[in-house]
Amino acid sequence: MKRVTKAVFPAAGMGTRFLPATKANPKEMLPIVDKPLIQYAAEEAAAAGITDLIFIIGRTKRAIADHFDKAYELEVELETKGKLKALEDLRGMLPVNINYIYIRQAEAMGLGHAVLCAQPAVNDEPFAVLLADDLIDGEPGVTKQMCDLYNYYQCSLVGVQNVAPEETRSYGIVASEPMAERISRVTQIVEKPAPENAPSTLGVVGRYVLTPRIFHHLRHIERGAGNELQLTDGIAALLQEQQVLAYEFTGTRYDCGSKLGYLEATVEYALKHPEVSGEFHAYLEKRFCGPCRNG
Ligand code: UTP
Repeated sequence: MKRVTKAVFPAAGMGTRFLPATKANPKEMLPIVDKPLIQYAAEEAAAAGITDLIFIIGRTKRAIADHFDKAYELEVELETKGKLKALEDLRGMLPVNINYIYIRQAEAMGLGHAVLCAQPAVNDEPFAVLLADDLIDGEPGVTKQMCDLYNYYQCSLVGVQNVAPEETRSYGIVASEPMAERISRVTQIVEKPAPENAPSTLGVVGRYVLTPRIFHHLRHIERGAGNELQLTDGIAALLQEQQVLAYEFTGTRYDCGSKLGYLEATVEYALKHPEVSGEFHAYLEKRFCGPCRNG
């Protein structure tokens, strides 16, 4: 039985919905309070026992590799200035015993192509895919939930949640047959269907565990929705020969690729943050409940 020890983080998208913030910086480096999105995702993978983190990066994404590197100069400076708490936090930031691997996607040809770029590092093993802009607050983390299911079922899984009928155009949508609690067998998967053509309202969000057979199909798909090579189309082809399960994960998901989702995540994570929660709570109360709310 193979266990999942590798995770792929596609982070080479254009991030057009967040321009100009994403002009020179990757969307995945946007912070939620004080931690970039990509770090939340890396921690979620490490907590699932994953040891090889494979980042698919684009032209403007060098910041991601820098973020996970040791910052010698910064450490020396913090030590010299006696900022020992900050130094300790910085050193404790990275999960230990993890391999960081970076692969360039020369052109943003779509999520399917980004995942295909990971093949030389994944080889013939099952692997997780995490889209860091889908921040999911779950305990245990969704990647752990899905890796445990992989260990049991030994087949590909996609993380799903119910979406509003008018939002199907923003998701891969699955048709599926119930199998166990929160788990169903995928019978069809379509990328960004119009509501009238959507087979259901179960939308795929940014968590997957895939068998390596997906690479064969990703090599053979043609450009689909948005003229991009879509992971959804690769999964649709995989479905013809292997079982794929849809898993309704437990946890709250924030779509941090959209401005509204990003703001919601910021508020919720700030309200839980040990350093600022009290004052932030008081600020919100004053702003929205106090006498000056129209001010
Ligand atoms: P999105 O669909 O969110 O696209 O990609 P995007 O370019 O990041 O953002 P918008 O829609 O233009 O605002 C989903 C995920 O796939 C990655 C993105 O980085 C994101 O994590 N991706 C997408 C790639 O790595 N390469 C691609 O060619 C496309």
